[in-house]
Amino acid sequence: MSAHYQLTGTTAVDISASIESGIRTGALSPGAALPPVRALAAELGVSPATVARAYQELRQRGLLATAGRHGTRVRPRPPVAARRSALRPPPLPGARDLSRGEPDPRLLPPLGPHLAALATENGPSVGYSDAGVLPELAEVARARLRADGVPVGELTLTGGALDGIERLLGAHLRPGDAVAVEDPGWANLLDLVAALGLRPIGVPVDDEGPLVAGVAAALAAGARALIVTSRAQNPTGAAVSAARAEALRTLLAGRRDLLLIEDDHAAELARVPLHPLAGATASWAFLRSVSKPFGPDLRMAVLVGDETTVARVSGRTRVGAGWVSTVLQRLVLALWRDPAVTELVQRAAQSYEQRREGLLAALAEHGLTAHGRSGINVWLPVADETSTVTALRDAGWAVAPGALYRIAAPPALRITVSSLDTADLVALAAALARAENPPPSQGFPT
Ligand SMILES: Cc1ncc(COP(=O)(O)O)c(C=O)c1O
Repeated sequence: MSAHYQLTGTTAVDISASIESGIRTGALSPGAALPPVRALAAELGVSPATVARAYQELRQRGLLATAGRHGTRVRPRPPVAARRSALRPPPLPGARDLSRGEPDPRLLPPLGPHLAALATENGPSVGYSDAGVLPELAEVARARLRADGVPVGELTLTGGALDGIERLLGAHLRPGDAVAVEDPGWANLLDLVAALGLRPIGVPVDDEGPLVAGVAAALAAGARALIVTSRAQNPTGAAVSAARAEALRTLLAGRRDLLLIEDDHAAELARVPLHPLAGATASWAFLRSVSKPFGPDLRMAVLVGDETTVARVSGRTRVGAGWVSTVLQRLVLALWRDPAVTELVQRAAQSYEQRREGLLAALAEHGLTAHGRSGINVWLPVADETSTVTALRDAGWAVAPGALYRIAAPPALRITVSSLDTADLVALAAALARAENPPPSQGFPT
């Protein structure tokens, strides 16, 4: 914890407000350690139960995490907006930033021509009473999903895959319920699960998706929902294989007490076939985002699922946000229908594949085994995340420490290859090898 930040309060409400305010102002940065309950209680002159209640409230809202001997800390991305000055500092000037997990903006289809076309022929205006999913968009979305073997029943739209997951979890689960998530898994999802007051149960992942034994263990531990990334799993690049899908479908067959959510965020960018689990359980939803192939700023995903699940999400959306803007739906439809855009997306997919496979091969030459079957990230197991990230930073590369993505999985780094030039692959692999196996010191002992 910052030496300058003084926690205050004599009630649980005031103590938690003081912590929240520290997070907002940046005095308590992500990862900052809070004092042990007894120490803070003694300092503030209150009972340990009062401090424990304050910590508990902030844990349930996803601001704090308590992990055994690591004590209580501010979560990596607590769900409270911090002042700009409190945000993560940018990488050192001149450093190559491979830490962000974003598609390469140079490989996204340009929106300008389709926005210009919409400006002249946007179609009839839509108001509160007739808004919803455009029938022509639903038709194209269904055809695209059916072509990939997804059983398409009911359909709705959400403001992206993560928004869909939040709405699904909100519609089926209650705070305190357990959710099975991939371990390692997407950091934002772990943050969302914490912010909803849900309990994550980590399911180990290999290159073919979640391990069957891990899912079985999560079910035995009472998981009420299971979230599976179909392809381009973040951070490992795993993709659910045909054999794994079959084994998982057998395990899940007919379960009535589990909500199955599939996140196909890479969608048209994935260079591996889809093997969906959709329909194996009574309650299920399959989400396909437009973020990665067409641009994260579009904020739209297609959600299909069983009748009850889709009705809950679309009904809840109706009484809140309302609908996904028809202007946006028309834009996405125009992108889907444009063969030149399809061609650009295919080229982007190819380019990501080349960079990923190039980095895996370059690392293998140094004897390093990394993962990255699909998508824009490579996952490299390392002995010590902190020292490797620091050594790489000194060599001019910013990468993401695996701790952001792990529950019980062993240490690793996530390297986003989307904006990596092929010319840099050899230098990066050499820097990673040096960071992982530093040469013995040549200097005289001092
Ligand atoms: C596994 C996973 N799901 C979903 C998303 C984002 O989807 P959306 O932008 O549609 O919320 C990401 C983005 O990195 C991701 O890694």
